[in-house]
Amino acid sequence: MRQSGSPQTFRVKNFGCQMNVYDGERMAELLAENGMTAAPEGEDADLVVLNTCHIREKAAEKVYSDIGRLAKGDGSKPMIAVAGCVAQAEGDEIMARAPAVGLVVGPQAYHRLPAMIERAARGERAADTDMPANAKFAALPARRKVGPSAFLTVQEGCDKFCTYCVVPYTRGAEISRPFSDLVAEAERLVEGGAREITLLGQNVNAWTGEDGKGRNVGLDGLIRQLAKSPELKRIRYTTSHPKDVTDGLIAVHGEVEKLMPYLHLPVQSGSNRVLKAMNRSHTAESYLKLLDRFRAMRPDIALSGDFIVGFPGETEAEFEETLRLVDAVGYAQAYSFKYSPRPGTPAAAMDGQIPREVMDERLQRLQAALGRDQLAFNAMSVGKRCKVLVERRGKKPGQWLGKSPWLQSVFFEGDAAIGDLVDVELAEAGPNSVHGRLLEAVAV
Ligand code: SAH
Ligand code: SF4
Ligand code: F3S
Repeated sequence: MRQSGSPQTFRVKNFGCQMNVYDGERMAELLAENGMTAAPEGEDADLVVLNTCHIREKAAEKVYSDIGRLAKGDGSKPMIAVAGCVAQAEGDEIMARAPAVGLVVGPQAYHRLPAMIERAARGERAADTDMPANAKFAALPARRKVGPSAFLTVQEGCDKFCTYCVVPYTRGAEISRPFSDLVAEAERLVEGGAREITLLGQNVNAWTGEDGKGRNVGLDGLIRQLAKSPELKRIRYTTSHPKDVTDGLIAVHGEVEKLMPYLHLPVQSGSNRVLKAMNRSHTAESYLKLLDRFRAMRPDIALSGDFIVGFPGETEAEFEETLRLVDAVGYAQAYSFKYSPRPGTPAAAMDGQIPREVMDERLQRLQAALGRDQLAFNAMSVGKRCKVLVERRGKKPGQWLGKSPWLQSVFFEGDAAIGDLVDVELAEAGPNSVHGRLLEAVAV
């Protein structure tokens, strides 16, 4: 029985990466399993879970401004739970600084959320930032109904210690979830309506496990297994690290048709000196060679990446090397960020921190180049016929929105439903989406 005074309704607010989206879904399932209901859109909730991100300064600041906003008002404030990576990095500080926060729970401990909520309702504030690898997954309820495109976390944590990054501290060491658990969870997702699964990990291609026959396999082995499910039509994975790319992973792109032609492989910089200072294990040349091998296996593969401008000591000439790398690759899509010094990371203490104006200017130039390439990629795909997985209704009546195999957002009008895999001809390219023409169903 739930105690009176305990929250009855909840809302989970996600920040940061797709792993947080996955965690947010799992927390919502856990709360529902424990008798709470999701607050309807636009209505106040008794409990608000802020599922936070610590990757850049701005992301972390949002947490405190959100707490301030929620705690203000007539005193009938919701219970606030802070989860995610800021919780892990600054749990005690949050408890001390924000009395309105009832509890803090790290990314590896959120299976204990219901018990913590009950305690907070009795006035016992607590922070739980333990890191028991893999324990939470075993303690979570079964998956429920999901949309056509679902996330599945297969790997967590990071051992790479890039000098700018907080993830190894907030998510802990690299762990792989067991093969059989993942196959079972994928089955549940498919039964719940998923037609596409995106396998997630901070370094997803570091995943390893033992398959049903006791053989050690990498991510490609898991992909091959999941592809056997007849109702599962598409598989994706993100984010990969250049260091963990194996021959098997490259090969599977040529062998498993359900694996979509898309690769997110962050490089961060085109300068070898900067890459070394970042403790990235690749050079610009070795990165380009890797991409060539993926392209040889899957010539139409859409490439994506992450970039940081203004890493300490980055010179104009070194930044221009990044622009040259971008020109050489021709990304279909990419993410770019201004370097943000993070507490406790080696780069935050390095000499040569770059002034804000210089970072702003470099980011603008980089984003102009990436935007140009993204539009070029979309323009190049005009005339192609492909499948689109319908994910939701568009803004206009009769309009649908889905994804092409190359992860482009595709709008089209006509007779379709969410979850359909329809045939579309890509007709008109914009910078962030492509307009498509629905093709008549052709009997085969
Ligand atoms: N594991 C992935 C990336 C995870 S973090 C990889 O190594 O490729 C997502 C992205 O955030 C990184 O690729 C990087 O571009 C960016 N990022 C991480 N720390 C940052 C910082 N301190 N300042 C700015 N961007 C950062
Ligand atoms: Fe961060 Fe580097 Fe690990 Fe990626 S590989 S999560 S950038 S430390
Ligand atoms: Fe942010 Fe944590 Fe993801 S810091 S990017 S939510 S792993």
